Amino acid sequence: MKNHLIFIFFLLIYTAAMASAATLEQANASRMEARIQALSQYGANTQGGVSRVGFSAADIQGRDYIMGQMRELGLRVNIDQVGNIIGRRSGSNNNLGTIAFGSHIDSVPFGGNYDGDVGVVAALECIELLNANNIVTQHPLEVIVFSDEEGGLTGSMGMVGALSSKDLNRMSNSGKITKQGINDIGGDTNQLTKAIRQRGDFKAFLEVHIEQGAILDVENIDIGVVTGIVGMEWWNVTIKGKANHAGTTPMNLRQDAMRAAGRFIVAANELVRAMPGKQVLTIGQIAVEPGAVNVIPEKVTLSLEIRDLSKDKIFSLFEQIKQQTALIEKQTDTRISFESQFSGQPAITDKTIQGFIAASAKELGYSHKKMPSGAGHDAQDMARITPIGMIFVPSKNGISHSPLEYTSPGDMANGANVLFSTVLKIDKSD
Ligand code: HGY
Ligand code: MN
Ligand code: MN
Repeated sequence: MKNHLIFIFFLLIYTAAMASAATLEQANASRMEARIQALSQYGANTQGGVSRVGFSAADIQGRDYIMGQMRELGLRVNIDQVGNIIGRRSGSNNNLGTIAFGSHIDSVPFGGNYDGDVGVVAALECIELLNANNIVTQHPLEVIVFSDEEGGLTGSMGMVGALSSKDLNRMSNSGKITKQGINDIGGDTNQLTKAIRQRGDFKAFLEVHIEQGAILDVENIDIGVVTGIVGMEWWNVTIKGKANHAGTTPMNLRQDAMRAAGRFIVAANELVRAMPGKQVLTIGQIAVEPGAVNVIPEKVTLSLEIRDLSKDKIFSLFEQIKQQTALIEKQTDTRISFESQFSGQPAITDKTIQGFIAASAKELGYSHKKMPSGAGHDAQDMARITPIGMIFVPSKNGISHSPLEYTSPGDMANGANVLFSTVLKIDKSD
């Protein structure tokens, strides 16, 4: 008899717990889709995607739209000195560390409508659900829209005090120097130190993001519980040859920067593929001077980007590339130099938060799996000052940084529900 009563007692407890997760109002997929579509008009391009690059007029319009949505949800909105938008919601005890969540809305040139945007819309949806369910968390909350994520995690680097003068003087995709761009969007580069947040300011940072790969889509899994975010290094490679007449200069007398560039691109790609592991290397930009049909190229500038969860591996591959480069210089009688442009630290997500995300997905009836992130995110900077968690939702066919990028409203709502439940779990975990 006694065992029977104990069983009934625990069954009641479990049912109540399940009921609390399930009875709360859930994310509204069409409301989220409406915000995605509204945002997509700012920087819309003819390919069906978006070119809302950081600091551009379209970025400023998109930011104004999001700030308006934040205010309608009752958030206190301000822009910090590095241009991050911060929407704050008081808790019942504002001395506790802030639980922050968000992402970015700037895009790559000719990008898609979901990278970053889904994380911001999911953060707004989380506030919608807190309001609808009349919940006041203990911890204060902040929705954060980081500035210029695609240009080098600018806003989150600024928030953790990691922005260098090199970063500030970097040319951004908008055609503005980063420093100018930050000021144009409401930041103040004369007072950047005021934007720096300290360890202890935050209880946790969470980011919902599209996977930007095909694992969840192919395996038909609803939620990715991110275990870690890759580090990345980005250099400009300058190849100097000698301009000369394309018709009168014999092949054996040429110092052809383009020929050296071709050898460099092939060599770098062969070295990264020959190395065991999941490291990746991309040469995404190339510029040629003087760029005339009938002039032997004098100068070629390339971008070189290497990513991996291990910094050691990135730099050991870079060393191999430099050795091969010395050979190419001799063979082509050119000079090749490297200038570091960006360095992103790899980050491991907090194990307790991973557990909250997985438990939330389970309670909500979503399939889920642990996985690393091959893309960089603002969360990896936030990991320097607070525990982080990342929640992935599927990217259709694994496509991203392309107008073909797509995530369904249902998948976006799943991500928002998991975010909402995880925020509540973190809030109660003190
Ligand atoms: O490049 C990236 O990994 C990110 O989308 N900024
Ligand atoms: Mn991106
Ligand atoms: Mn992103």
